[in-house]
Amino acid sequence: MDLEPQLRAIGNQAGTAIEAATNLEQLEETEVRFLGRKGELAALMKEMGAVSAEDRPKIGAFANEVKTDIEAALEKKRNQLAQASIGQKLSSEQEDVTEPGMKPSEGHLHLVTQAIREFTDIFERAGFQRVRPPEVDWDWFAFEALNMPKDHPARDDWETFFMNAPMSEKKNEGRMLLTPHTTNGTAHLLKDQKPPIRAISIGKTYRRQIDLTHLPMFHQFDGVYVDKGVNLTHLLGIIEYFVKNFFGPDRKVRIRPYHFRFTEPSFEIDISTDSKMGKNGWLELGGAGMLHPNVIKAAGLDPEEYSGLAFGWGVERTYMMKEGLQLDDIRTLYKNDLRFLQQF
Ligand code: DAH
Repeated sequence: MDLEPQLRAIGNQAGTAIEAATNLEQLEETEVRFLGRKGELAALMKEMGAVSAEDRPKIGAFANEVKTDIEAALEKKRNQLAQASIGQKLSSEQEDVTEPGMKPSEGHLHLVTQAIREFTDIFERAGFQRVRPPEVDWDWFAFEALNMPKDHPARDDWETFFMNAPMSEKKNEGRMLLTPHTTNGTAHLLKDQKPPIRAISIGKTYRRQIDLTHLPMFHQFDGVYVDKGVNLTHLLGIIEYFVKNFFGPDRKVRIRPYHFRFTEPSFEIDISTDSKMGKNGWLELGGAGMLHPNVIKAAGLDPEEYSGLAFGWGVERTYMMKEGLQLDDIRTLYKNDLRFLQQF
């Protein structure tokens, strides 16, 4: 029996099937069909017994040749298909630069930072330069230069955070502390600059207090204008200017006599409110006055020659007044809860 034509036929059929395969799965099926253990070649080989002993080596060699040819064709096609599928993947996954981009989620500034920027902007338009007073300072700048006597309650350990640090090496500067108000900025400005001085000190302040309406850290802004001939009408003018620019043109300003150590006379400022701000009437904004002659003297200036106006109040409080924001717990401001912060 001559198996050669059948072997040749298998070789040809396999060749055609391999050529026709369009993907790796089909190619694998073709391989199993022709070269598998139960495939066409194996089936034909079972017929070898019927081949004469004389022809067997020749047919055997030919069968091997057919098998090797099929294997080579499979290998070649496998490479081709693999290349094609990579190419296809690359082109299908290619970035479409014309597609609209994805907008990253955007944060915004904390409401206190927004308020500080707004205050800064308003005062800069009136010629006040923004300064950042030191948060860690010496007793001299926070109290002594501001005419606050040694036994003033604010200088008590229970009111102010004093640092566990050596005393200042400079005479009179005293103990190190966390400043309880930004009026220390005024003391620094008076020491470092010559009049005319027109500045707004904005920064963090610290007091030994924490409850629903008080924070141990909060912000203040403190304005000062020192020159020859500065008087009360300048003070009222700048306060009115701020109130109308920040709260709106309909807002009225009222002053009440008060007492601060570093100003004489001293006042508390109220602004008229509307229903949005919680109640109709007046709300206290903060303190103000004309710098006390002792403060001018502590800066090495002659109070007969120079005078100054000053005012100061809390950033958080002022901002909350404008927004009509009434918080059950003021500490919410600094809890960083996005559900709260996103509303501003
Ligand atoms: N430093 C005062 C406080 O923390 C506020 C203040 C009052 C500041 C009157 C001033 C001022 O500049 O003139 O309570």
